[in-house]
Amino acid sequence: MYRWLIISCLISSSLWAQIESALVPQPAQVNWGTKKFVIPKTVVIEALSIEDQNIGQFLVDYLKERKVNVTFAPKTRETRPITLVRMLPDTLLPEAYYEISVNEKGAAIRATQSVGLFYGVQTLIQLLPPHGEQLDLPYVEIKDYPRFQYRGMHLDVSRHFFSVRQIKKYIDLLAHHKMNRFHWHLTDDQGWRIAIKKYPKLQEVASHRNETLIGHYNSKPQKYDGKSYGGFYTQDEIKEVVKYAAARFVTIVPEIEMPGHALAALSAYPQLGCTGGPYQAATKWGVFDDVFCAGKEETFEFLQSVLDEVMALFPGQYIHVGGDECPKERWKKCPNCQARIKKEGLKDEHQLQSYFIQRIEKYVNSKGKRIIGWDEILEGGLAPNATVMSWRGEAGGIAAAKQQHEVIMTPENWCYLDHYQAEPKNEPLAIGGMTTVEEVYSYEPLPTQLSSEEQKFIMGAQVNLWTEYISSDAQLEYMAYPRAWAFAEVVWTQKEKRNFAGFKKRMSLHLKTMDHWKVNYAKHILTNN
Ligand code: ACM
Ligand code: ZN
Repeated sequence: MYRWLIISCLISSSLWAQIESALVPQPAQVNWGTKKFVIPKTVVIEALSIEDQNIGQFLVDYLKERKVNVTFAPKTRETRPITLVRMLPDTLLPEAYYEISVNEKGAAIRATQSVGLFYGVQTLIQLLPPHGEQLDLPYVEIKDYPRFQYRGMHLDVSRHFFSVRQIKKYIDLLAHHKMNRFHWHLTDDQGWRIAIKKYPKLQEVASHRNETLIGHYNSKPQKYDGKSYGGFYTQDEIKEVVKYAAARFVTIVPEIEMPGHALAALSAYPQLGCTGGPYQAATKWGVFDDVFCAGKEETFEFLQSVLDEVMALFPGQYIHVGGDECPKERWKKCPNCQARIKKEGLKDEHQLQSYFIQRIEKYVNSKGKRIIGWDEILEGGLAPNATVMSWRGEAGGIAAAKQQHEVIMTPENWCYLDHYQAEPKNEPLAIGGMTTVEEVYSYEPLPTQLSSEEQKFIMGAQVNLWTEYISSDAQLEYMAYPRAWAFAEVVWTQKEKRNFAGFKKRMSLHLKTMDHWKVNYAKHILTNN
């Protein structure tokens, strides 16, 4: 009886500690203690190298916001410091592995590599109470590492443009939740958003549209706002964002769409279309028949030169080349495209698309980089080294994994954050569909149709945020969060540790930390979800 009582006390106090510290995503192993380490008003962070201090700076910045004085020291006699420790590299441990111990000696984060140290720092921030004057850390032992290596989040900046400031905030929130890929959708029919030195008309012409459709694209009659809309990132801005992301262990995957979704580019360089134009950047949403001409050599010269500049700007391994939603109407009637089909011995326009992507892949590979494409790149034959991003359900991803190609899962039903997140009649206008935070949370990236050998080709998963109906920073955050944080747990947390009821409970506290960061998250999860 007595024993039982003690055990029950321990359980309830450890549950209590858990609710006081909302860790998102849930770590692989957490053992809560019962005591607390009260952080003094002046605290020393022990970090040996400048690199470790740079990582520790994220904690310093946060503690300073919470009115704690922090100093760095390579070694301290302080009795209860926060220490950042680099253990010896252990090849058996995952790259992002870290451990945290909080006990009577203070708090220690141990990692084998910088990225693990960074994630340990993010977790330590989450261990602190989100509000109140007294900052204490619960005694705890954590061992943590990710389930998937590709933990991605996408943003469309073509349909609506977002400032460098907002992109940085997006990356901050991604990294804080231990996601590591930012898929930056930089070009589409409605606007080209990256300056390319060789083709100045991309920024002068293709970055603007004449006006924008008001309301849903299915609504009738269609009304337009009559206002010119545009924006682009200079190459210096891109470099600044790449550096910012790298400091947070986020790799940017830039997307340059081809052969479809090309109207904005064609408005600046009409000779790259089958008909020669004139063209205008799209003023409404959808899929358009005018695409890059696959018959003209000039198209490939243009795209290769664009990719040269893109590859120089983005140090990551992957370049996303789109490949989705490319109608074949123009190609069917274009003498250049038909001549290409004949010359290359292709069967039809689907094989012409495959020729297009394979040719671009060969070029990208020759520069030491790799391509990713949406799952349409399977049609007409997959480019030999391409990674497939499966969005029209999981079938494309399953087929690609069976062909031993790398796959990133992002099926619409779970991973499209432009869908409504609750009953549409109570929500601001969105594209359609409904994907609640619980549905996002329930996503399982490894399809049971694949053998365990085939499942190894699933590198991870991603959520996408298309912005046809998102024109402000506030709306962007409302659609992204907390669904993206539910997804962070899908890609980071070990499957058996996932539990929506627990997530929901942790969110009620975690959202208070997000209040410090002034995030306009949606609040459904606090009430009826
Ligand atoms: C897509 O949603 N068109 C990839
Ligand atoms: Zn053509």
